[in-house]
Amino acid sequence: MIKELQEQVHTLIEKALEDIKQASSSQELQDLRVNYTGKKGELTKISKKMKDLDKEEKPQLGQFINQFHTKFNEAFDLKQKQIAQEELQAQLAKETIDVTLPGRIQSQGVRHILTQTREELEDLFLGMGYQIIEGPEVELDTYNFERMNLPRNHPARDMQDTFYISEEVLLRTHTSPVQARTLEQHNFEKDGPLKMVSPGKVFRRDTDDATHSHQFHQMEGLVVAPRITLADLKGTLLQFAKAFFGEEREIRLRPSFFSFTEPSVEVDVSCFKCGGEGCSICKQTGWIEVLGAGIVHPNVLEMSGVDAERYSGFAFGVGIDRVAMLKYNIDDIRHFYQNDLRFLNQFKGGQN
Ligand code: PHE
Repeated sequence: MIKELQEQVHTLIEKALEDIKQASSSQELQDLRVNYTGKKGELTKISKKMKDLDKEEKPQLGQFINQFHTKFNEAFDLKQKQIAQEELQAQLAKETIDVTLPGRIQSQGVRHILTQTREELEDLFLGMGYQIIEGPEVELDTYNFERMNLPRNHPARDMQDTFYISEEVLLRTHTSPVQARTLEQHNFEKDGPLKMVSPGKVFRRDTDDATHSHQFHQMEGLVVAPRITLADLKGTLLQFAKAFFGEEREIRLRPSFFSFTEPSVEVDVSCFKCGGEGCSICKQTGWIEVLGAGIVHPNVLEMSGVDAERYSGFAFGVGIDRVAMLKYNIDDIRHFYQNDLRFLNQFKGGQN
């Protein structure tokens, strides 16, 4: 009986060593250990027969079993190391990074050129001590027209037809109503002189073409203090023209009409393309019209509760779209509103 069992263990060793040699993954190797030495393993089956042996035979089988363990473990450990090494190599090979692949390009957005232009204008006037005030785009007829010295049925209203929400409520045709809204809030005794700009959207019932859009942008300017004159207006606008269009620029004022200013002027800037010689941009005149302005009409001050005997002021209205078109040589106002990336992406220069 003992001989037979020893023979079995011997064969089992041979078989186990061969199996270990053939194993190709750490999982397979673990399975072998269970199959041979686990609770229901082959070796365990043989060991269970130990109890049927004679007293002196038991250690003889024990020796063989120990031998099995030694040889098994030795081969097992060796193979385990080898497989771990192979598996690591395989994983490394699988995870290699191809550093020659081109990177993924992150496309970077750009603020809309009208926003950039508005901010440039704001910065410019902030630097001259102005405050920025916003007003509603949906406005009352009272502020948009009446308080701007344009009574109902006044013929000059025709120049600014708009979209009506109701008889009394409309989309503002200009940023000028913010003048009235600000004046009635401002406490001259307490706050001192008023210097403000107000940028924003305006609307008109225009037929859209290269230079007209039913929606566009303006920036209103208003300065009210004792003894403000046309000279203050001219000095301010000259500074604006130089800062925005270039140091070489000059301005000229031409008489005009607005119901809310008296006298009223159109302001031209000397052509920044030809410097005044005459070219296609300035239509051979050497000058480009950029804004409307004037001395605040006493009626506008009085209607907002400001004493026109003590205070005077100037106001101006710049077309933000218009000055952006001039500065960046944009030939059609509709480009601003069509969200064509080929257009918008051209204005990355001024960003910081
Ligand atoms: N509100 C005028 C317009 O839209 C511009 C303007 C503003 C003129 C302020 C004079 C003073 O045409």
